[in-house]
Amino acid sequence: MLSLLVRQIRFEAIGVNSYELVDPAGADLPAVTAGTHIDLMLGDGIVRQYSLCNDPAERHRYVIAVLLEGQGKGGSRRLHETLHVQDQVSVSLPRNNFALANGASQHVLIGGGIGITPLKAMAHALASRGAEFELHYCAKSPGHASFRNELAGLGVEGRVAFHYDGGDPANGLDIAALLRGRAADSHVYYCGPRGFMAACAAATADWPAGTVHCEHFKAPEPERAVVQGTEASMVQISSTGLRLEIPAGRSMVDVLNDAGLEVETSCVSGLCGSCKVRYLSGEVDHQDFILSEDERTEYLTTCVSRAKGPVLVLDL
Ligand code: FES
Repeated sequence: MLSLLVRQIRFEAIGVNSYELVDPAGADLPAVTAGTHIDLMLGDGIVRQYSLCNDPAERHRYVIAVLLEGQGKGGSRRLHETLHVQDQVSVSLPRNNFALANGASQHVLIGGGIGITPLKAMAHALASRGAEFELHYCAKSPGHASFRNELAGLGVEGRVAFHYDGGDPANGLDIAALLRGRAADSHVYYCGPRGFMAACAAATADWPAGTVHCEHFKAPEPERAVVQGTEASMVQISSTGLRLEIPAGRSMVDVLNDAGLEVETSCVSGLCGSCKVRYLSGEVDHQDFILSEDERTEYLTTCVSRAKGPVLVLDL
């Protein structure tokens, strides 16, 4: 856990502030790669994940951008209304579930609304390494688009495009057309609100495995975040042989923690990967939104996923 100083808060777009966080003594922060996020502890048990949006090569600061959500559960409101310059805030160590791929001939980055944040960091990293990339930023209007000047500065040779839909996605970027006919070793990365995520998923449904990367900042189907199964299941702890029943309606991570096996959590919605645990045998009903098919053969997220078969053996 880090305790960071709020050095600057800046208005970036309608409803969006950016927060620059630094070490209080001016030390370098832990190194990060593009796509990294941090958890902010906002008091009263409120923990929220935010992507870092500054150039990942910068060691002196982390910058996040936060959209004030009227319908949210209070995290963005707390940041906008109670966090001030010179405050200190507790922050988790950085974690990356949305990394750039190596060896792609081209990277296509598509951000919707506040989902631009991890893609902006990626654009910085790709521009520094001279890689072939395009960044497409979908927003309601220029006033709703954060970091316009900074992003435009990355747009040498037209690599950055802004798409404004006036609030009607039908008038926005044709994502299917944008992604059609790309080279087989192109990689696409996207992050944005639910409808945007669904459009990107549909447009990339036939892309080769491993070339499509996305990060949800909300569970795609809200009801799934609280689905904890309607039947009890069983897990076994490989180091001790202890068997634990996961009752219907309870999460695996709650039962593990009650049994003294400390598994870290953050989003408890299958979005962040903090609660990821390796399993050694058994079948899993994966309910997360971050693990790739490859990762799912080895890991599960204990906050939302469940055992499918008679017993699931966890590498704990
Ligand atoms: S706590 Fe975030 S994925 Fe489980």
